[in-house]
Amino acid sequence: MLILGIESSCDETAAAVVQDGTRLCSNVVNSQIDIHSQYGGVVPEVAARSHLEVVMPVVNKALSDADVTWDNIDAIAVTYAPGLSGSLLIGTLAAKTLAYLHNKPLYPIHHVEAHVYANFITQQADSLNLTLPTKQPTFPMLALIVSGGHSQLVLFRDHGDYTLLGQTQDDAIGEAFDKVAKMLGLPYPGGPSISRAAEQGDAHKYDFPKAKLAGMYDFSFSGLKTAVLRRLQREVGVDFTFPSHELPVRVDEQMRHDFAASFQHIAIETLVDKARRAYDEYQPASVVIAGGVAANQELRRQLSAALPLDIEYAPIQLCTDNAAMIATLGYYQSKRVEPTSPFALEIRPSLSMVQENVV
Ligand code: KG4
Ligand code: ZN
Repeated sequence: MLILGIESSCDETAAAVVQDGTRLCSNVVNSQIDIHSQYGGVVPEVAARSHLEVVMPVVNKALSDADVTWDNIDAIAVTYAPGLSGSLLIGTLAAKTLAYLHNKPLYPIHHVEAHVYANFITQQADSLNLTLPTKQPTFPMLALIVSGGHSQLVLFRDHGDYTLLGQTQDDAIGEAFDKVAKMLGLPYPGGPSISRAAEQGDAHKYDFPKAKLAGMYDFSFSGLKTAVLRRLQREVGVDFTFPSHELPVRVDEQMRHDFAASFQHIAIETLVDKARRAYDEYQPASVVIAGGVAANQELRRQLSAALPLDIEYAPIQLCTDNAAMIATLGYYQSKRVEPTSPFALEIRPSLSMVQENVV
């Protein structure tokens, strides 16, 4: 079964073709990073316009890269939640039109749940050359979902059958990376630039506190972000009223690296502590990480060291936003639920994964 996935929830326009929920035939991602980096973050109106311009060329490229035509495609899967409204609208409109035009079943996909499914891709077309996991995860599966908008631990008993164990009470981890990067004067997006800067820094130079929370598996990153700001203000010799956007010019290179490394170390350790706790309690058969922050090498290193099982990580290209994960989840959805009418599909910009799972 060949599924075309379409993703446009934030600042990536993506399309991919996946066979039987496991084999990646093509994976096209048009990133808007260059467009948004001049503003230091995603500008929703600019994002929507860019999606509109590239969505059809991206879809056509996904089909031609996979060497297939519409006749070969069995279904379309598209992100309908959560994300920026204008961005979601373009992707879903394209998918609805194409489903109607080519008479294909249409499956609405939850973006955050889909991130987990990047881990189910274990085969690929010869031209792709990604380093993929050798086998699919098995259930029960513990998923640590860490992205720009989400930080949560989810226990999957089966496809579509999951429980939220805990989540962030304030900022998402990716958001914390992005904000700390801004304070340090590191370029957008902050996650990869913090990791790069951290390679040359001392992770134990600055001590930052770990949040203590009532929920066993909940996270909080807002306090850590403020602790970094206060320490940075102190180090450069200004008071707490000094604006954070004027800090970067006062930070020298070594300090920047040490702050990046110390922040990253503690932020990642917080995630890994909770994942370890959940592992001990639920004894899952597999553990996966998902979302943009899953690209972080320090997370992979710390998690593998903390858990007594072999974790196979998805390649970085499938951790950040892409449509391969959308098509993959689309396949498993098609086994469980009826397709949606192109006329009925509506976007749900703030739908959480848990709300969706309540039937
Ligand atoms: O999943 P994603 O591509 O988009 C959302 O659905 O949010 O995640 C984007 C987030 C951004 O906050 C970015 O800074 C972070 O993932 N990120 C990283 C790394 N690569 C991307 N964070 C830490 N380390 C990385 N290597
Ligand atoms: Zn994402």
